[in-house]
Amino acid sequence: MIEHIPVMLNEVLQFLDPQDNKVYFDGTFGGGGYTQAILNKSDCSVVACDRDEHVFQYADEIKQKYGDKFHFSHSKFSEIKKVINKFSYSSVDGIVLDLGVSNFQLADASRGFSFKSAGNIDMSMGLCHENAFDLIRRCTEEQLANIIYEFGEERFSRRIAKRIKENLKQLKTTEDLANVIRACVRKQGKIDPATKTFQALRIYVNNELDELRAVLQEAADLLNPGGRIVVVSFHSLEDRIVKLFFREISDTNPKFKIVTKKPIVPTENEVAINPKSRSAKLRCLENEA
Ligand SMILES: C[S@@+](CC[C@H](N)C(=O)[O-])C[C@H]1O[C@@H](n2cnc3c(N)ncnc32)[C@H](O)[C@@H]1O
Repeated sequence: MIEHIPVMLNEVLQFLDPQDNKVYFDGTFGGGGYTQAILNKSDCSVVACDRDEHVFQYADEIKQKYGDKFHFSHSKFSEIKKVINKFSYSSVDGIVLDLGVSNFQLADASRGFSFKSAGNIDMSMGLCHENAFDLIRRCTEEQLANIIYEFGEERFSRRIAKRIKENLKQLKTTEDLANVIRACVRKQGKIDPATKTFQALRIYVNNELDELRAVLQEAADLLNPGGRIVVVSFHSLEDRIVKLFFREISDTNPKFKIVTKKPIVPTENEVAINPKSRSAKLRCLENEA
């Protein structure tokens, strides 16, 4: 079975600094790597959520091991308030978010996250309104180009959108989609030309950036004094949202302090062991009040 290797786990634990009798929120439970490490580190409780129903098996395993110290909800992290209330908490002592796609999501070709295999053009992590194929079908060429430009920062967005719409009838799998993109954008360096378009469609389908904006504001409101928010992001669009939010809230509300003046990145050793960690950036904010 595919395992998810938690990214920057030591750094997450160092910044979150779990303490006995405190409550932590893991908004991106995934394979439960962070949650398990937090529960092992101290005699605390964790409330976790994930939008993907494929993680239930991992949540069940942790529930069996930690009993009442662990609570799981099948929810989006923007619903953090509802989720913690459901388990009778009104605030928490630390919040962690690990925004990447998990290894098991990438490895399951049928879910369409990877352009390296022939899967359904889906890309939904769960609790979405539409999948990537419906999106491509529904959008006009111009709308599609705008999505690819805004969420993939792809400068050939117009050309790609035109080709996708022209070839819609032949598009059955993610491999077909990737090949249409590869046929109209020349490969530069090692990066596959389909990378940015896949990123854009995934972000749009899962409404990832609005989810992040929504959870950050809620998270700050729900954080107990001395508590920290730790966010690990994987691309510049996410990191920019975290950076600006931390800056703005610490400028306007003196109880919040940015703990990481510059983002923390994985060690060379971690990148060598787990190349997927290479683009990770960790930022931390504290409620000092
Ligand atoms: C990189 S994985 C997390 C891995 C986890 N830290 C671990 O150590 O196993 C990201 C997870 O976040 C989930 N996710 C992404 N966006 C979400 C959202 N808005 N709400 C809830 N879960 C989300 C994904 O479904 C995925 O399972």
